[in-house]
Amino acid sequence: MSSQDKIKKLIDLRTEAKLGGGQKRIDAQHAKGKMTARERIEALVDEGSFEEFDMFVTHRCVNFGMEKNKFLGDGVVTGHGTIDGRVVYLFSQDFTVLGGSLSETFAMKICKVMDMAMRVGAPVIGINDSGGARIQEGVTSLAGYAEIFQRNIEASGVIPQISAIFGPCAGGAVYSPALTDFIMMTENTSYMFVTGPKVVKTVTGEDITTEDLGGANIHASKSGVAHFKLENEEEGLLLIRKLLSYLPQNNLEEPPVLDVTDPIDRLDDALNTIIPDNPNKPYDMKEVIYAMSDHNEFLEVHRNYAKNIIVGFVRMGGMSVGVVANQPSFLAGVLDCDASRKAARFVRFCDAFNIPILTLVDVPGFLPGSGQEYAGIITHGAKLMFAFGEATVPKITVTLRKSYGGAHDVMSCKQLRGDLNYAWPTAEIAVMGAKGAIEVLEGRAMSKIEDPEEKAKYAAEKIEEYTEQFANPYQAASYGYIDDVIEPKNSRFRIIRGFQSLQTKKLSLPPKKHGNIPL
Ligand code: HXC
Repeated sequence: MSSQDKIKKLIDLRTEAKLGGGQKRIDAQHAKGKMTARERIEALVDEGSFEEFDMFVTHRCVNFGMEKNKFLGDGVVTGHGTIDGRVVYLFSQDFTVLGGSLSETFAMKICKVMDMAMRVGAPVIGINDSGGARIQEGVTSLAGYAEIFQRNIEASGVIPQISAIFGPCAGGAVYSPALTDFIMMTENTSYMFVTGPKVVKTVTGEDITTEDLGGANIHASKSGVAHFKLENEEEGLLLIRKLLSYLPQNNLEEPPVLDVTDPIDRLDDALNTIIPDNPNKPYDMKEVIYAMSDHNEFLEVHRNYAKNIIVGFVRMGGMSVGVVANQPSFLAGVLDCDASRKAARFVRFCDAFNIPILTLVDVPGFLPGSGQEYAGIITHGAKLMFAFGEATVPKITVTLRKSYGGAHDVMSCKQLRGDLNYAWPTAEIAVMGAKGAIEVLEGRAMSKIEDPEEKAKYAAEKIEEYTEQFANPYQAASYGYIDDVIEPKNSRFRIIRGFQSLQTKKLSLPPKKHGNIPL
């Protein structure tokens, strides 16, 4: 063979590999409204930046006539590229090859990019579109999954891991995305479940569709498994780029600080009137977040899940900041099990990756009732407390209105090592709301008053007295638990200056193997 023939052979092999499972299957993929594994990568990374590995890998299985059923690359495209000039490692499962099913060699390819990502300290992005364990391979496929899981676990908190689910992801295969930091799912073309509808029907008798069991809507709103729900793959690929712009490459680096044109001392008069005079009236906390952030931009995480708490990323003065905020316009912003879990996970992500945390408080307390108690609100509330208390990144808390009882302590109070705790003049920091407090304190006295009018008058007077004394920020400020009471319209400036002053913060926890967060 001449050198030219050898080069031609290489080009032919590359062409063959790039066709994956062949044109017919590529057409079928497109007919479902899905891109191919390579098209997804091309759309995701900076143009021309993708370098592929292991294009010539094939499986080693000889069961069920598999020796004649081989495809170059074996069903997963792996390699590295750049996003906004920063290196990322990727794997993209190719459904056109044996349904994207995972073989021993398929798993080895994924493990290789994960190992390299860890070595160089760069994020890993996994695009999932697979029929699960390659049935013909048996246990070597299961072992392959476990090799990936172990790497997901070791990479957790070291490099950001992002999972895009653009097709099937079923059985034990769900656990690799579940071990990563963020999961996004496309509506109608993706699903995740441990057991599919057929098995569900056999075992429990329940009739349920794929979409209702494990579609994007369900996981983005009910289970919380998915952090983002996407209309289509293009939206997901852009979202990955956006999300990475807030994150450092690894846990030893700081997140990128961007040049922004939004003045840090921009005042927002609307914030001075956003809190209604009636403490029981809701307002939209997202308006506050948009008003304070650079160019009014907010990347919300878990938008449709546990809407009583809001989490996501903003930039303030160019710095990347994680926001945790109660939402008074949904369930009055009460803390329940789901909200506590959602916020705790976000706080821990920010802390792991050196992203400062801004906490905006308007919380009436924990949601009462047997439903919450049986679901373990004690454990879940403790989880959020633990997450805030162990976070050593800069933490600024602003109390806008209610901050009652245990929920006050949980929401990044001073004693959980809040660095700067501000309050608006509308803040009410107390053990409980006025009405509840008077029922406890004055119950005996009121039971002795027979005339209902007189009773109501007495209660109203006591509520007013309590409100006067406790429903304000000044008692907390008098103890130094609140560092300053600030005018709402100045909040952006005060917060940015706070975070700037905290940039060199150093705080470490006592040496230990790891804490025992209440899971
Ligand atoms: C081998 C598979 C496969 C698999 C699909 N294929 N899944 N080959 N192992 N797991 C092949 C099909 O034979 C077919 O090959 C091609 O991929 C496309 O599949 P279709 O069925 O034609 O596609 P579609 O109708 O879109 O259905 C997709 C599907 C279905 C819903 C994913 O293929 C399916 O139910 N597959 C089996 C899923 C499953 O039970 N997996 C094991 C889960 S347990 P041809 O040659 O005809 O194109 C698991 C354990 C992991 O994953 C444990 C980790 C701890």
